[in-house]
Amino acid sequence: MALNSAFHSSLTADVAQLKAEGVYKRLNHLESPQGARVRMEGRGEVLVLSSNNYLGLSNEPAVVQAGIEGLQEFGAGTASVRFICGTFTVHRELETAVARLVGTPAAMSFVSGWNANKGLTTTIAHEGDFVVSDALNHASIIDSIRLAKAINKCTTAVYQHADLDDLREKLVAQAGARRRIIWTDGVFSMEGSIAKLPEILQIARDHDAIVVVDDAHATGVLGATGRGTAEHFGVMGEVDVITSTLGKALGGAAGGFVASSTELCDMLTQRSRPQLFSNALPPTVAASALAAVQFLEANPDRVQQLRENAQYFRQAIIEAGFHPLPGETPIVPIIIGETAHAIRMSEMLLDEGIFVTGFGFPVVPQGTARLRCQISAAHTKDDLDYAVRAITTVARRVGLMK
Ligand SMILES: Cc1ncc(COP(=O)(O)O)c(C=O)c1O
Repeated sequence: MALNSAFHSSLTADVAQLKAEGVYKRLNHLESPQGARVRMEGRGEVLVLSSNNYLGLSNEPAVVQAGIEGLQEFGAGTASVRFICGTFTVHRELETAVARLVGTPAAMSFVSGWNANKGLTTTIAHEGDFVVSDALNHASIIDSIRLAKAINKCTTAVYQHADLDDLREKLVAQAGARRRIIWTDGVFSMEGSIAKLPEILQIARDHDAIVVVDDAHATGVLGATGRGTAEHFGVMGEVDVITSTLGKALGGAAGGFVASSTELCDMLTQRSRPQLFSNALPPTVAASALAAVQFLEANPDRVQQLRENAQYFRQAIIEAGFHPLPGETPIVPIIIGETAHAIRMSEMLLDEGIFVTGFGFPVVPQGTARLRCQISAAHTKDDLDYAVRAITTVARRVGLMK
């Protein structure tokens, strides 16, 4: 039996089209653990400015060791979904720890932040309910809402990014809905900006709505002790539902969670389809994520280091003559303008030993293509100085700077 050649040739044409448009993604293979510097196949050592390894925990000895012990203690996995053939005690420990970290009564883990979001919206939004989402929310939120609309027939709307008047209007228009749900990122990943959470919470109170915050880029990052957007604004305990990932600051392996009331977490066990029809987080990953949470709780100075590094880089890149989007997170997008320039610069930077991704249209609006620099607590000042020098050199070479 041969493969269906027409099908596969049509994919070849699709890929060729992506290459012609300059938006084809090439995978860079790493031969060492993630870190401030990695060994990249065919390139040697490069400095990483494009990872979400915010606290440098991906290769933290305690995190790696916990993963090894988790694997030895529990084996590879349960070989089925949790409710059918048991769940490991390490999952419960992890869920207790993340709930404690973000300040909610309970939490439920998933194999990814994507699955956490997907499983959540379809569990809480049904026919007669209304979900309103910030225009710049992450793709996982957008798709979760589309799925809930398709399956459950809830009503949905999108409010202009961070436009609270628009949010209010959309809620007023749905005053008769059974349940109103406001979905927002805590930190917007392409901008590095922070949601106006206190105002959003007030709007929710005014309009009897529920607030759901995706803290994927805020857990371990925002707030004095890295507890996220709510800690940053001093409103811990006031957000109805927090979702996040274990695949960024908290060890960077994989996994995600929904943190909320015990009732909601119980409903996720009952109804959330990724819980009902898909295996749990591998115990080795749960064990290393648990160690990452414990590490963060014991070492809040890492969050401070991250903040200092981000401020240092932001200041240095401004002094070098660039105009990053303003902000206070470790995501520092340097606006380049043309997509081709941003992508070319990111390739040239790799030649200079810096791994930083260029994002262009349609991921970001036309004319705002950017190099998205992400800073880690693992970077040294020398790393950051080197990055600023290399970005400046490359910007001069492409004629973006004198
Ligand atoms: C805001 C946001 N939410 C959710 C996710 C998905 O997380 P995960 O990689 O754990 O699926 C990401 C990952 O990029 C993200 O940035």
